[in-house]
Amino acid sequence: MNLMKHSFASDNNSGIHPNILKAIEEANEGHCFAYGSDPLTERGKQALKNVFGDDIETFFVFNGTGANVLAVKSLVRSWQSVLCAETSHLNEDECGAAEMAVGCKLIPLPVTNGKISIESIAAHLTWLDDEHRSQPRLVSITQPTEFGTLYTPEEIKAIADFCHQHHLLLHIDGARIANAATALSLSLRACTRDLGVDVLSFGGTKNGMLMGEAVLFFQPNLTSETKYFRKQNMQLFSKMRFVGAQFESYLQHNLWHQNASHANRMAALLFEQICDIEGIQFPFPVQANAVFAILPLPAIEVLQERFPFYVFNESTNLVRWMCSYNTTEADVLDFAATIRQTMLKF
Ligand SMILES: Cc1ncc(COP(=O)(O)O)c(C=O)c1O
Repeated sequence: MNLMKHSFASDNNSGIHPNILKAIEEANEGHCFAYGSDPLTERGKQALKNVFGDDIETFFVFNGTGANVLAVKSLVRSWQSVLCAETSHLNEDECGAAEMAVGCKLIPLPVTNGKISIESIAAHLTWLDDEHRSQPRLVSITQPTEFGTLYTPEEIKAIADFCHQHHLLLHIDGARIANAATALSLSLRACTRDLGVDVLSFGGTKNGMLMGEAVLFFQPNLTSETKYFRKQNMQLFSKMRFVGAQFESYLQHNLWHQNASHANRMAALLFEQICDIEGIQFPFPVQANAVFAILPLPAIEVLQERFPFYVFNESTNLVRWMCSYNTTEADVLDFAATIRQTMLKF
């Protein structure tokens, strides 16, 4: 097999945590009903209820894009709009999936440190009730943001309160919510539902799962059509027991926390090792499992020969270095030493 040894490109580049793999193997016994009518799917949903509350509604889907689209589709009509960060995955990295599936308008908002503000939301609450304008219905934020930064709990609570005062709902794209909860020293529930969030795309793939994400609705009256939309959007997995089993294992013994805190620690270590290197700028605080840096293009090219990573913005030479649940300390120290040596030449 010709796999790369270690990559700082994405937490998606890592494999499957052994506990998750074991859960998949254990789920591979015998036959059971498909499409979620099986005991393992039930157990996965129960594990989520134990964390987020008994009255949540859970819909398992294949991937993060599917989770975001199903959340939007369930809450927004084609004549309504979603307010989200201009840098959000929903807006930039899902190939217009929400626009295609829902037919609604996405309104990209400016960001500071990856975060949107209440003021930027408020600026679009005009022409309400006017049939010539799409009507704002949902605010979507990403936690941690696409730049690895965090909204504080107070900021999320304030956005949620503002949304509810203006008849808007609040969605979190939580592809990496475990990294955020861990960094904030909060439970998964305390950093989402308890702050007033209405729907969460709860990811696990980037933190040790094979695949499968969950859309969690914290207001059950929002989901009367969701099961139909999931099927129409090709996100209904026949062998759903393998997703349920992964979620049960992911939440058992706080595996999510263990994995995320390791990934966050590795990003902090990387930053600590390189923050004094002349010629590199760090435009965002390192708060979860990503380090963003700006450095000369020739240095980027030399580093990429040994360590795969993405250039996030080609016009500014902004790169992202991502740590995952199985990034080792040795990987980080090796990478940091190579960055230091490389920068001496530029
Ligand atoms: C913030 C965020 N949301 C959602 C996703 C989900 O993407 P996918 O559909 O590739 O699972 C990603 C993946 O990179 C992401 O970074």
